[in-house]
Amino acid sequence: MFREYSAFFNKQYRDQPDGGFLITLQKAFLKALRDGYADKQLPNHIFYADDCFVVYRNLGFLKDPDFQEALAAAEVDSVLLGRVWRIWLLAWSMQCRWRSEGLLLDCGTYNGRAFQVALHYSKTRLGYRKDAIVACDLFEDPPDEARKKDHGPDLREKVAKQLGQYGQVQVIQGALPQSLMHAVGSPITWCQIDLNSALADSETFRYVLPKLADGAMVIFDDYGFSRYEETQMELDEIVSKLTNSRIMELPTGQGLYVHRR
Ligand SMILES: C[S@@+](CC[C@H](N)C(=O)[O-])C[C@H]1O[C@@H](n2cnc3c(N)ncnc32)[C@H](O)[C@@H]1O
Repeated sequence: MFREYSAFFNKQYRDQPDGGFLITLQKAFLKALRDGYADKQLPNHIFYADDCFVVYRNLGFLKDPDFQEALAAAEVDSVLLGRVWRIWLLAWSMQCRWRSEGLLLDCGTYNGRAFQVALHYSKTRLGYRKDAIVACDLFEDPPDEARKKDHGPDLREKVAKQLGQYGQVQVIQGALPQSLMHAVGSPITWCQIDLNSALADSETFRYVLPKLADGAMVIFDDYGFSRYEETQMELDEIVSKLTNSRIMELPTGQGLYVHRR
């Protein structure tokens, strides 16, 4: 059922010259597809969300009851369901690292819903985690590029309450990467960076990189989007200068980096 959500929330649909044209085309395409099947529903092998259209796939993650429960627990809305594959990568990668020592660090937590899905999924499957979970954001007065409807003076507290059930959670309000000085514990075993800014993303990664555990995973939410081409260039430069590795660009628009010491 989740595959029916094809939210056009990418800002480029609104501010690029071809945005309106692409929306019209994609809506017509979806309608033609639905009309082409006898029951007017997309079949189970088709996925059309996260600005990705794929066919003849198993899409096993959509059928995972723990993932479905996590989406429900975090009360995700249709905008988040429109990027459900991205959220699945967060949940999957976090549960890979849940039992390893070190911090789980979310840089750009916003209202905490996406992070909560990953935490709920991992905790349901693997139980209590003793090491710290850190959520960082400005929470109010963000730069225009990163502004969303829930930003405001109460957001930090709301997020702290919402995430508190998942273990030893620290919610840090302030500008990254400087605010990370207040993060308690190390090394970092899992990290997401999602700040919608090449400078903030790359400076945060520069801070995080030397603190990563062997096998740590870092998910860059903005890495593959053409809007954030500069972000990809900056991150690639850091990785090529300081490691022997490469960031994996995923069809969802995310980048996945696996750290080897
Ligand atoms: C795209 S939103 C994050 C969305 C969130 N990860 C999710 O999946 O729902 C980007 C967030 O980065 C925050 N942000 C932007 N620049 C920042 C900075 N320098 N320091 C801390 N937070 C920042 C904004 O306040 C905003 O909440």
